[in-house]
Amino acid sequence: MNGMNNTIVIFGGTGDLTYRKLMPALYNLYQTNKLGKDRIIAIGRRKYTNEEYHKIIYNWIERYARMKFNSDLFNDFIKQVDYYEMDFTNHEEYIGLIDYFNGKNLINPIFYYAVAPQYFCTITDGITASKNCCDGKVIIEKPFGNSLEEARRLSKKLEDSFGSENIYRIDHYLGKEMIRNIESIRFDNLLFANSWNFNSIENIQIQALEEVGVETRGSYYDHAGALKDMVQNHLMQILTLVAMERPNDLITIQDRQIEVLKALRPVNQLDIQDSLILAQYEGYKDEDNVSKDSKTETYAAMKLFIDTPRWKGIPFYIKTGKKTGSREMNVIVTFKKSSSFVEANKLVIKIQPLEGISLKFNMKEPGESEDIVQTEMDFCQSCISKNRINTPEAYERLLFSCIQGDQSWFSKWDQILLSWEYIEELKESYLEKECPIYTYKQDTPGPDVVNRLLNDESHEWEESQLYCKLQESDLLHK
Ligand code: BG6
Repeated sequence: MNGMNNTIVIFGGTGDLTYRKLMPALYNLYQTNKLGKDRIIAIGRRKYTNEEYHKIIYNWIERYARMKFNSDLFNDFIKQVDYYEMDFTNHEEYIGLIDYFNGKNLINPIFYYAVAPQYFCTITDGITASKNCCDGKVIIEKPFGNSLEEARRLSKKLEDSFGSENIYRIDHYLGKEMIRNIESIRFDNLLFANSWNFNSIENIQIQALEEVGVETRGSYYDHAGALKDMVQNHLMQILTLVAMERPNDLITIQDRQIEVLKALRPVNQLDIQDSLILAQYEGYKDEDNVSKDSKTETYAAMKLFIDTPRWKGIPFYIKTGKKTGSREMNVIVTFKKSSSFVEANKLVIKIQPLEGISLKFNMKEPGESEDIVQTEMDFCQSCISKNRINTPEAYERLLFSCIQGDQSWFSKWDQILLSWEYIEELKESYLEKECPIYTYKQDTPGPDVVNRLLNDESHEWEESQLYCKLQESDLLHK
């Protein structure tokens, strides 16, 4: 159990992130005895009593908690949760918050800014008005600003106010089980460690397809688009984990990831038409809070190169989109063929909805035949209920790391800056060259034009990797 008594203060306590992710994660931490006596203060503008707020989060936790819901346990957990009503955009109201803090003797604050970035400054000014509050940690979510310039300014402000070691920039993908596993799979198997380079690998694909559209987030999404919403953060994290050199006691994972970002082939050396495709699903413009003449992409596919001795000329294909008919995220490593008569070996790291790994390899056809056939070893980690129950959710894992003061799976500012600059330049170049925003039908895998990115005839986009029809919801609580 964690010994410190922290106070987790959530700005945006009535928001979707808090209800859907943070409260269930905190409940799971409580259930696994990791929360200790930490207090949780949810801040929101709405007029709720503690009891009313508790009733609301009961339903969310019951629905979204990882482990089987236990109402007695919930009643214990909830004693540590208070609702505090305030308008966090009003500087005056922080005096009351600070009095509340002092009155309850709350210490070691962890401020979670579960709000849009335009409020980061106001909140920081409000809480830093009291000296005691500055000793805390701050967790922020992307987008870290509405523009790179704003993100820079906010980052500086937060670092000046709280100290860079106390800023936790969360990317929930870094809490996902199979993304954590990439390092072990790569480096703890000599089989892969020795062949993870241009000599043996033909190409690497990172695919993140979503069944959902923009849902209720039209106003945010229409300014972000798929590049900023998914690629710049989550997928660049995966790309850099897949491509980085081995970290060691002196060089952290983040430093290794930064090396990769610095080695991305500069945009001005790419033929943009053969490197990026942007598209929008039909009907997107009719979504709530989306501009009627929106040119925002809901789909992006790209081909990138990493100019390091390890990767000389090997393409990395990235593809992500909303309303693509399935929810699926995989990293697919296609190895070079040992001869033109056989199929390529493929390693698939399955990130979601099912977690696991599969390897395709060649062998002689069983029986009298001497033909070579391809076969597959497939391990579905999340199909085993013990694994599912014992695997923390991404937010649960990351909140616990922050409570413990462990920064290793949070993003450094340099990572954000480099990937932001790169993706922005890529998009600018695409628009400058007047490349079109293609359209695709809802519930289809995206526009066919993405095939243009493929290097030669031997490359192809990987088809769906779902090998069993179980859905994530079928697995819950079983
Ligand atoms: C968020 C994006 O960061 O990640 C969403 O803003 C996206 O648009 C979501 O749907 C995907 O997360 P997950 O965990 O469901 O893959």
